[in-house]
Amino acid sequence: MITFDGVRKVFPDGTVAVDNLDLELPTGKITVFVGPSGCGKTTSLRMINRMIEPTSGRILIDGDDVTSQDDALLRRRIGYVIQHAGLFPHRTIAENIATVPHLNGVNKKKARAVALELMDRVGLDESMADRYPVQLSGGQQQRVGVARALAADPPVMLMDEPFSAVDPIVREVLQAEFLRIQGELGKTIALVTHDIDEAIKIGDMVAVFRQGGHLAQFATPQELLERPANDFVADFVGRDRGFRSLSFDTAAALEVDDLFSVATGGEVLVLDGAGHPHGWTGPGLGSTSNPTPLGGTFVTGDSLRLVTDLAISSPVGIAVRVDETGRADGVLRHDSLVRQLNARRRRRAEAESTS
Ligand SMILES: Nc1ncnc2c1ncn2[C@@H]1O[C@H](COP(=O)(O)OP(=O)(O)OP(=O)(O)O)[C@@H](O)[C@H]1O
Ligand SMILES: [Mg+2]
Repeated sequence: MITFDGVRKVFPDGTVAVDNLDLELPTGKITVFVGPSGCGKTTSLRMINRMIEPTSGRILIDGDDVTSQDDALLRRRIGYVIQHAGLFPHRTIAENIATVPHLNGVNKKKARAVALELMDRVGLDESMADRYPVQLSGGQQQRVGVARALAADPPVMLMDEPFSAVDPIVREVLQAEFLRIQGELGKTIALVTHDIDEAIKIGDMVAVFRQGGHLAQFATPQELLERPANDFVADFVGRDRGFRSLSFDTAAALEVDDLFSVATGGEVLVLDGAGHPHGWTGPGLGSTSNPTPLGGTFVTGDSLRLVTDLAISSPVGIAVRVDETGRADGVLRHDSLVRQLNARRRRRAEAESTS
């Protein structure tokens, strides 16, 4: 666990970059620092490995004050990834990745083997090992940066906008790979971004900063969407909050109706011989042999967001549930869905007020 205890940073020119920050970053989880430009995210991150010293307050890693540790050794135990990867231009990719193992006295051959293995892990072809950073694309350089930070197998990783220098598609790929690697490694990660969608997607916990280095809210992504602490956070989190928050729960608890119980508008679900849904027929809809398409189906493991989207985009306002073999096993009218979502919200609010 990384603890910020009343941390404040005032730069010599009087700029208060971080003000009275209290925060606990859980071990083995990703904590994202997010907020507008200049709000103190990078400063907070760099105080963890002492690239910047706090003016007052303490930062502890598993209870040990970082200021009581040798800073060079501290930095070798903490992986650090920055925007544009920050690679050494005159070293090859393999040499870049092997930097810290090398400093730790690992011999050249072993360090290269570690580098090649990590290249594989982050999705870089071995053939790039002896190239120089300028000979790689932005996304590839970013992967090298991640591999280099992982090379010493540090328990803690600090990442400053690690995916921001690449286009949106490469970015999604890198985010997904990063989550996959983290799923295997379980590092304690502090990651800075100014992109709230990225924060919500990859954070286990999200710290929202506001101008002047104040912490506006520290919560799970779901809590941020459902219960922003103030107008600043609500504004920053953005539109469609309610809809986006439905991504975090599955359809497992939803009650569905019997397949043939919904024909209030005369619509009938057309099934094939195996019970797979084919579409809708009825007044204003297609025929039994050529029914109006469903637009998709859901299973119990799908998100409430998907189910809601299906119900409101369905030609008849009804989402169709299928079992694992693809057979229709229930239907959900949009009005029933809205009733259940409301009941769910009331239950959560009650649970919260009694806890
Ligand atoms: N060395 C410094 N001297 C004086 N002021 C500084 C220094 N470094 C940063 N600052 C100021 O401290 C504040 C916080 O900077 P910081 O780099 O932590 O912001 P940030 O949240 O990472 O912003 P961005 O999203 O733009 O990277 C800013 O107002 C910045 O101008
Ligand atoms: Mg920054």
